[in-house]
Amino acid sequence: MTKIIQHALVTGGAGFIGSHLVDALIEQGARVTVIDNLTTGKMENLQDAGARVHFVEGDIRNRGLLQQVMDGVDVVFHQAAVVSVPLSVAHPLDSAAVNETGTLEVLEAARQAGCRRVVLASSSAVYGDDPELPKRETMAFGPLSPYAVQKMTGEYYAGLYTKLYGLETACLRYFNVFGPRQDPSSPYSGVISIFLDRAGAGRSPVIYGDGEQTRDFVYVRDVVSANVCAATEDTAAGKAFNIGTGKTITINRLWQQVAELAGIALAPDYEAARHGDILHSVAAIDAARRDLGFSPEISFEEGLARTYAWYQRQ
Ligand code: UD1
Repeated sequence: MTKIIQHALVTGGAGFIGSHLVDALIEQGARVTVIDNLTTGKMENLQDAGARVHFVEGDIRNRGLLQQVMDGVDVVFHQAAVVSVPLSVAHPLDSAAVNETGTLEVLEAARQAGCRRVVLASSSAVYGDDPELPKRETMAFGPLSPYAVQKMTGEYYAGLYTKLYGLETACLRYFNVFGPRQDPSSPYSGVISIFLDRAGAGRSPVIYGDGEQTRDFVYVRDVVSANVCAATEDTAAGKAFNIGTGKTITINRLWQQVAELAGIALAPDYEAARHGDILHSVAAIDAARRDLGFSPEISFEEGLARTYAWYQRQ
């Protein structure tokens, strides 16, 4: 059975993925509240939503505030996080405070408020470097970074909240999400945003390692659809799903495609591989297809072209 979302809370709703989710929820007629501390989120990401979103500036670890914004909410989309793998290697405690403690705060507040379901943003990083590909939800966890441990822990907490308290949860293991609004401004940003930014500025990118590592890049709109289904489908409750496309590209090839799009020919600079970096990552998405009706609709090429066009307009 499919349930309707009446009042959604999106943590990290001014961020890259969160703000696209807000737009989609508003379009569907849901009431939407956002809590975001604007560390990496931006108010301009909520421009389209405008006055239709109830925005609250604050941290998910502010317990009193979290309780307030949870009032009357039936579905929580927990997108707030420190999303960078290398940043978690450099600052494990800071990232754990948000990704681990913050997630527990969100689950606990949702339990106390009597929310129907919490959809958590998890990560393909939980699989680590298991040589078996594609990654399946049935495979064992093998975290290689604090970030991966934190996302794994969030999933364990979600499972516990279902068992102990009957709070419905669904975890989405995002593969590499890209699209408009991904902020390229930090060395810890997503690789596509950095490469598009470099190409636009006519500057060479840095490739960490030999560039032959692979990623499964999924367009943000498809990730948003997966979130909505994870909140509305009965078949999603209590489960974790890979959200990717099942296709991969090497980082070397990614730069070639970006350079072609931008009409430039610049050789990348190569630096040592990052600690905690995964070599190969590709999703099996059968479970998401079956239980969420998930089907990625935007091809990588189409998504890249749309994202490039967006960066050019900025
Ligand atoms: C990304 C997400 C993470 C998510 C995970 C799921 C970001 C910042 N990270 O991690 O939240 O949970 O996917 O799979 O969105 N690289 C370069 N040059 C650069 C930047 C990166 O060569 O300038 C390389 C990295 O070493 C890595 C690959 O590109 O091998 C992807 O890096 P990145 O975009 O940071 O993503 P992940 O670490 O895969």
